Amino acid sequence: MKKLEQLNTLKNQIKLGGGEKAVQKQHEKGKYTARERIIRLLDKGSFVEIDTFVEHRCVNFGMDKKKAPGEGVVTGYGTINGRLIYIFAQDFTVIGGSLGEMHAAKICKAQEMALKVGAPIIGINDSGGARIQEGVDALSGYGKIFYNNTISSGVIPQISVILGPCAGGAVYSPALTDFIFMVENTSKMFITGPQVIKTVTGENVSAEDLGGAMTHNKISGVAHFYDNSEDECFEKIRHLLSFLPQNNLETIPKSNNIDNINRLDKNLNNIIPENPNKAYDMKNIIYSLTDNNEFLEYQPYYAENIITGFIRLNGETVGVIANQPNKLAGCLDINASDKSSRFIRTCDAYNIPLLNLIDVPGFLPGTSQEYGGIIRHGAKMLYAYSETTVPKVSVITRKAYGGSYLAMCSKDLGADVVLAWPSSEIAVMGPSGAANIIFRKEIEAAENSEAKRQEKIDEYRNTVANPYIAASRGFVDDVIEPAETRKRIISAFDMLAGKREQRPVKKHGNIPL
Ligand code: HXC
Repeated sequence: MKKLEQLNTLKNQIKLGGGEKAVQKQHEKGKYTARERIIRLLDKGSFVEIDTFVEHRCVNFGMDKKKAPGEGVVTGYGTINGRLIYIFAQDFTVIGGSLGEMHAAKICKAQEMALKVGAPIIGINDSGGARIQEGVDALSGYGKIFYNNTISSGVIPQISVILGPCAGGAVYSPALTDFIFMVENTSKMFITGPQVIKTVTGENVSAEDLGGAMTHNKISGVAHFYDNSEDECFEKIRHLLSFLPQNNLETIPKSNNIDNINRLDKNLNNIIPENPNKAYDMKNIIYSLTDNNEFLEYQPYYAENIITGFIRLNGETVGVIANQPNKLAGCLDINASDKSSRFIRTCDAYNIPLLNLIDVPGFLPGTSQEYGGIIRHGAKMLYAYSETTVPKVSVITRKAYGGSYLAMCSKDLGADVVLAWPSSEIAVMGPSGAANIIFRKEIEAAENSEAKRQEKIDEYRNTVANPYIAASRGFVDDVIEPAETRKRIISAFDMLAGKREQRPVKKHGNIPL
């Protein structure tokens, strides 16, 4: 009996973390504690904690007298939507969630167990970084975590949730994972903080502006999901996991679909404006095609000229990549190339089929793009699509010009099925640019050269910029009525379900980075 009492007392003490005062300070910042976070995120009653009794071994700077309950990180496993996940949550109430040798060992064990059993791992980051008293032992801990992140990449989904500071080299563990979630006013990620920046460059910047949730969701593209509160963030993580497999070998469970697979949407027949230079919102097409209007957008605030995210078609997860004519006319630029290439590879790694919705006038012109390396970044898209082996269906809604036609997954880059709407214009370049080049002399010689130019633009559009030439060569499998797109893509993915594609054996490819 005494032994049981001792066990309960010990566990209860450890579960208090850094003590009442530190917990109160955490709450005053509008943050939950590590254990409160885990309880809120996981299925009720499912969490099983491991390594509760782990302690640090540091004796420097008075650390031999300092207790660190749980070693500043809570680890274990549980379920989300009934499916197994591994989790670790740094406990800021214990020495600022700082990471020492044994803290890292707990995280590494969770990572290694998740990999062994093939379950996703979620890491909640809230830490002052490397435990300064532990020196190189702390650095080694980070190194082991980075290594595990990399080895697990493409095998089990890895999700990072930034719910406090995450600074210095510590940012590289999240950066190596598949998905990063950040919460307004709570999350901070930076390599060097505002004070160091002030000293080195003289710039004045607040922590939120430098490394807050919106900064990394909108400007840097480091983060993938933005939320207003921790609870909203936990809900989104649960939603994301519903689209993913447990690992690269598992089939994603099919969700119950109550949406008619033959549903027609006559609105799509009129969604493309008469004027080819007029924009429209591609998201309306995505919402029309997906089951029950469900769409989880990936990086919604970054490179808005391309839309990426998860939908379901007849209950099966599909990754969608779509040009957005509403932003930069849907041009591909450096950021759009990076965003979509990463998403394409994430989907392929986890066997998620791809739907490409194409309305792309070209790559964005300009010195900033050229100097920034649009050639190198754009090449990532070509590479990413070409190396995928998942089923791929492309739907051309309007423009598909030049290199960007290829970069958005043409037949030649591996699309299994290409469907085009009658409004499609598939050509080497846009009609006005093309007419200005090939009819230049004729336009210049004309009495009314503006009228001649328009006549030649129309002539080019009518002869070349339509779907029928591409369809006559077999680059387009069918020209379809927009209203029936949902039915046709569901049929195409259904037909492709048994697709097998082999690649030559190699160590690994060499994607342009
Ligand atoms: C040891 C730390 C610590 C750390 C915080 N603490 N960070 N202890 N090592 N890295 C301790 C504090 O001393 C304090 O202990 C308690 O945690 C809470 O911290 P506060 O400062 O009171 O909290 P707050 O005011 O909210 O400030 C949070 C903070 C600040 C901004 C994160 O603590 C801070 O600047 N910490 C140092 C950050 C840093 O420089 N880390 C090293 C980065 S380099 P007491 O006992 O007073 O309660 C790095 C390299 C990684 O991480 C390389 C990997 C490759």
